[in-house]
Amino acid sequence: MTEAGPDKAITVKTPEEIQVMYEANQIVAGVLSMLKQEMRPGLTTLKLDTWAEEYCRDHGAEPAFKGYRGYPAALCVSLNEEVVHGIPSRKIRVREGDIVSVDFGTRYKGFFGDSAVTIAVGEISEEVQRLLQVTNEALYKAIAQVQIGKRISDISKAVQNHVEGNGFSVVRQFVGHGIGANLHEGPEIPNYVQKQASPRIQKGMVVAIEPMVTVGTCKVKVLRDRWTGVTADRKLSAHFEHSVAVTSDGPVILSERKK
Ligand code: MF3
Ligand code: CO
Repeated sequence: MTEAGPDKAITVKTPEEIQVMYEANQIVAGVLSMLKQEMRPGLTTLKLDTWAEEYCRDHGAEPAFKGYRGYPAALCVSLNEEVVHGIPSRKIRVREGDIVSVDFGTRYKGFFGDSAVTIAVGEISEEVQRLLQVTNEALYKAIAQVQIGKRISDISKAVQNHVEGNGFSVVRQFVGHGIGANLHEGPEIPNYVQKQASPRIQKGMVVAIEPMVTVGTCKVKVLRDRWTGVTADRKLSAHFEHSVAVTSDGPVILSERKK
């Protein structure tokens, strides 16, 4: 996700370009499936980063986040009250009962892939399960709005309604984004409805939709490492993201994970 800022250009892609973006995103999906499979108490977050980068390079892609605006790793690993951009470390281990958001991006044949998932480590309470489920449902309700002629605000509205209707909050400081030959393109995709009119959804756009949801306040603070975003009240947060193409047949989830 990107910090809300000046407008970046919106681009549309040809079917051939969307096919390349599908391949880029399927490498991301493979990384996230592997991390889900391997997740267990005791692993360092640096180990997860190493595995992600290896899988990515073995599949012919480059890790998109490494070096992006100086980000020091391939993977973002955000534990519990961390919302986004947690930096992998050999000093941080995942523990039973944690929720671990892993966010990964690839660059492949000139195009980017981007997706994220929040993984439960062992047993978590019903309330925390509900946080993960509502966030993932909000993502899929948003994806259903990815239709030619609708507006970006329809995506935002779908997320906000589902999240707030279930008593949780949406983060406002970070937004989803267009994606293509750049990791972050226009339009911005907020997870809440803004007053100003938003762009129409056009054929060939590819959007990274990424609800970031909190149990308490929606306010996020960035730690002294200048990357890690944590909830201001240190309550839990979840994050799910897919890159989605706009086609005449409706939304195509490029980063969908195979069962
Ligand atoms: N998935 C994030 C995004 O949507 C990752 C950016 S992290 C950075 O933009 F390290 F690359 F900045
Ligand atoms: Co993103």
